[in-house]
Formats: sequence, C-alpha cells, structure tokens
Amino acid sequence: MSDKLLNFDKPSLQGSIKIPGDKSVSHRSIMFGAIAEGTTTVEGFLQSDDCLSTIDCFSKLGVDIKVEEDRVEIKSNGISTWKEPDEILYTGNSGTTTRLMLGILAGSNISSVLIGDESIQKRPMKRVTEPLKQMGAKLIGRANGQYTPISVEGSNLQAIHYKMPVASAQVKSAILLAALNAEGETIVEEIETTRDHTEKMLSHFGVNIQVEDRMIRLHGGQKLTGTHVIVPGDISSAAFFLVAGAISPKSRLELTNVGLNKTRTGIIDVLQSMGASLTIDISENTSHELIGALTIETSDLKGTTIGGDLIPRLIDEIPVIALLATQAKGKTIIKNAEELKVKETNRIDAVVNELRKLGANITPTEDGMIIEGPTPLHGGELLTYGDHRIGMMAAIAALITEGSVSIDNHECIAVSYPNFFEHIEKVTKQ
Ligand code: S3P
Repeated sequence: MSDKLLNFDKPSLQGSIKIPGDKSVSHRSIMFGAIAEGTTTVEGFLQSDDCLSTIDCFSKLGVDIKVEEDRVEIKSNGISTWKEPDEILYTGNSGTTTRLMLGILAGSNISSVLIGDESIQKRPMKRVTEPLKQMGAKLIGRANGQYTPISVEGSNLQAIHYKMPVASAQVKSAILLAALNAEGETIVEEIETTRDHTEKMLSHFGVNIQVEDRMIRLHGGQKLTGTHVIVPGDISSAAFFLVAGAISPKSRLELTNVGLNKTRTGIIDVLQSMGASLTIDISENTSHELIGALTIETSDLKGTTIGGDLIPRLIDEIPVIALLATQAKGKTIIKNAEELKVKETNRIDAVVNELRKLGANITPTEDGMIIEGPTPLHGGELLTYGDHRIGMMAAIAALITEGSVSIDNHECIAVSYPNFFEHIEKVTKQ
C-alpha cells in the first residue's frame, strides 16, 4: 500500500480509450460458466482483483478455468460435480463474489466457508442470508448471518416469493442463483429496477426466466449450457473519463466498447441533464448486452437533482458525479442514495471528507449529499479508504486542481480498473 503523487497542470484531455470489461458481467461469466455443463468461452473479461477473486473461488471448487489476458475458458460438468473445497473461499474486496457465491453454494451438495477482506467483513450479508434461509439454506455467520465468515452447508432449497426490501442486484442475483437449485417457481419482486445482467446472462445460457416490470420468475431444476460470452466495457469505469472530459479544459475524449445496458446508463442521463456535450453512438449488437461509443467534450455544466429510480442506475458513479457537480453552476442534490453507506466504504462520508479537502462546497445528508458549484479546487492529501472508486475520483480531481494531489493506497484501484493510470497517461500526453 503506497502513496501516489499526482501533479498535473490542468491538462487538456484528448484521444480515445477502449474501456475495459464490465466487472459485474465478468463475475457472472465465470459463475455461470462454472454452473453450466460444457465449455464456456469469455472475451473481454476484466482481469481485475475482484474478478480474479471469483476465479480463485471456483478454482478451489475444482472448476477448470484458464485465463489468457481478456479471454477465459471454463470447463465444467455442472454444479453437482464441484469438489468440496479444502480451503476457505476468499472473496477479497468483492461484494458481488461474496453475495452471489452464497446463493450458488446454498443449493449445492457441498460444505464451504466464505471470508473476505477487512471491508467485506463489515458489509451487510443478512440481506442475502435472510431470504436464502427462508428457502431452506443452512448458513451460519457472525451476528446471525450478517457478517462473514459465513459457512454454507449445501442443502435442498424451496422456491420463494420474495419482495426485496432494498434495491440491490446482488441480492436479486443471489436469490435467482439459489432458485436454479430450488424446488418450484421462485418470484423476486424488486422495489426499483436494478442492473439486470443476471437475468440477461441466465437467458443467454439457456435458462427460461421471465421478467415483467419489476417481477422476475424462474423455475428450479433448469440446466445451464456452456456458451460464448462477450463482456462489454464497464460504464462505471467509463464514468471517470466522462467526468474528466467534461471538466477538463479544451478536451475531447472518445470512449469505445462501453456497455450501454439501460439499467446502468444513469450517468448518461445525469450528464445530459447537466448540459454536458456528449454524443452516443450505439454499435451493432453482437452480444446479449448493448455496446457503443461515447464522446465527451469540455462542457458548461449546471446543477441537477438525482434521486428515485435513477439511483440504482448510477449507484457506483456517485463519487465521481459529486466531483462533476463541484464544477457545475448551482446546486446538485443527490438523494435516496443511503445504499452508499454500505459500499466498499461509507461513500457519503468518504466523498464529502475528501472533496472538502480540495475546497469543494459539499454537505452530507442522511441519504446523499448537496453540492454547490462551481468551485475551483486546490491540491491536498486524499485518502482512498481502500475503496477503488474513491481512489479514482481523487485521481480525476487531480486533473483540475491548482497544485498536486496525493492519494494513499492507490493499489486498491486494481479492484475494478487495473490500467486506470495508463489510460490517464494516454489522454494527458499531448
Ligand atoms: C453489483 C451490484 C451493485 C453495485 C456493485 C456490483 C452487481 O451492488 O454497487 O458494484 O454486480 O450486482 P448492490 O447490489 O449492493 O446495489
């Protein structure tokens, strides 16, 4: 864990970046390939720390996985042929790995124990263990199943009709994955629509899954068949460069290979409502996910209000949207975003503390934050809290500060964007 000093002179950003693979889709490609019978090939896979944690867990379960740069081959004969792991399954910093694995393992025929890093050990798991226990899962974890380590004794599961109390794709996915091995039809009702990569990819692997409004239905006992998966670029990674391009002087950035699944494009809505100069070019669709190119230019921005059903469509982008708002004229209100408190760190506190150090006018609220702009930012010593998205927000801020910015533990950025600094260098080098 080391500090990084970022000393830019408000560069103009130019050029094109091919956005690396989507983290959510990459995790699922490995998981579903491991559950499926036959061979699954993945292209565009994100080789980041989080996704490698998922691969590591499945290797310990005896699944044959070969990774060569962004290509992965998974050979499996289905979940019933996995081996009981003789080691603890380590899920690292990854909430998606931890929560979805709980759903998968609950209905398997093996016993296992899951543990994550310091951050994961503090993140709430009851939102997953509670509905899984209602399905008959045998799970034991600290604080009555709230925290890892959690032990799972695979068992026979029953279908459930579950009305989700939180908007969370991880919770929805954990239940749907458990439902594959449950008796009967499972129904999951969402309070808000969340990212639907699980639904789309299950269908791509041959599962009959029905989605109507916010209601998802799936019959247990269905098999997945190995297939080819194309992982689109991660719009959550693109978001950092969208903001960088909009707030840096005389800039124009083209971002290619961006996943444009409509459950993820809240950042585009926000940029448009703030008046950003953004163009969208949708490619021909070769995958089960929509892909396109985004071009962003230096923009005159105005404040906006972000809340309601927009929040799940941009939840991971809020740290960098807060930075964007410091450069917009007027007030930006971010509300209904209390889920930020249970991410890799408490992102309301982290964003407010760190942007204030640079001179931003930002106030925390119970469910979000209020930012008044535009404010010129100055240098400072920023903390990442071990959270990749706070680290990247700080690095993007450094592009427009008067004076240098240092960030601690910059290595945490490899959780989702290992070549982030290479890409910064590419667009700042004239
Ligand atoms: C994810 C869902 C979201 C998101 C996370 C990835 C997923 O979390 O913040 O980065 O892959 O399903 P929640 O389900 O907790 O909202």
